[in-house]
Amino acid sequence: MNKLVKSLLAAGLMLGMANSALAAEALKLGYLVKQPEEPWFQTEWAFADKAGKDLGFDVIKIAVPDGEKTLNAIDSLAANGAKGFVICTPDPKLGPAIMARAKSLDMKVITVDDQFVNAKGQPMTNVPLVMMAATKIGERQGQELYKEMTNRKWDPKVSGVLAITANELDTARRRVEGSLSALKAAGFPAGQIYSVPTKSNDIPGALDAANSMLVQHPEVKNWLVVGMNDNTVLGGIRATEGQGFKADNVIGIGINGVDAVNELSKSKPTGFFGSLLPSPDVHGYKSIQMLHDWVAKGAEPAKFTEVTDVVLITRENFKEELKKKGL
Ligand code: GLA
Repeated sequence: MNKLVKSLLAAGLMLGMANSALAAEALKLGYLVKQPEEPWFQTEWAFADKAGKDLGFDVIKIAVPDGEKTLNAIDSLAANGAKGFVICTPDPKLGPAIMARAKSLDMKVITVDDQFVNAKGQPMTNVPLVMMAATKIGERQGQELYKEMTNRKWDPKVSGVLAITANELDTARRRVEGSLSALKAAGFPAGQIYSVPTKSNDIPGALDAANSMLVQHPEVKNWLVVGMNDNTVLGGIRATEGQGFKADNVIGIGINGVDAVNELSKSKPTGFFGSLLPSPDVHGYKSIQMLHDWVAKGAEPAKFTEVTDVVLITRENFKEELKKKGL
């Protein structure tokens, strides 16, 4: 074989290899979240993308604010060739419908943050779940509130707890129950804890709920505000402001951290004292990494992955603490 033929053959071989590499499209995985307006979920998406870059797959991100959009999103993922998805469902009760649809399309599912429940309202423990340690983080909220109230030397007799609840969401119920039990354990009078349910998990919903409770207790001079996340607590804080309470007479501590950045950046302190920052970065990266390993390598994910680390961020340290986590 002469040189020319040899090099032509070699070139042909290389072209062929390039062609087949192009033909093998990158793996696609979905990441569906209920509330894309929350920085919490934006952070999960950003770190899911990072996992995709590191491990070589494409992440299709879709907002799913309700059941109909969720089922449509699953269909559109399948049409795009995705092999599975991570989801924070807009409603835990959609669990069975989501699983049925995914199964019919041969897609794998990992849940993040909010656990599915079945028709009887029991948790669907057979679907892999990545979530924060809800009770523990709630207890920490209660402990930190009590600590700050002690720092301010409030008279417990004229202080109250305003707890904004969302009991149909298990993680929310556990966080708030943890917080209230820690407050009672620390010595806060149980009879001065007032709970009120919110209609929606956002600032306007929590504000309405808080307003309706505040007017019923004109005797309370100082308020501790409890809620399952930053927006819930922020709604409570806005309500106290609307009813004339000064920042010195209100202490609220949220959960999520990344959703509290605007509030903590304000030029003057508000009643929002701080937030417990868990690890949205870990939730986003780890959940989709587990899905990738399941789809690409057949590695079965753990049924339950609890993410436990949490730090209290305040006006003093939030920039530094967020930076430490690359947020
Ligand atoms: C729930 C809340 C979110 C966030 C996540 C964290 O989904 O709605 O704001 O706190 O839990 O797990």
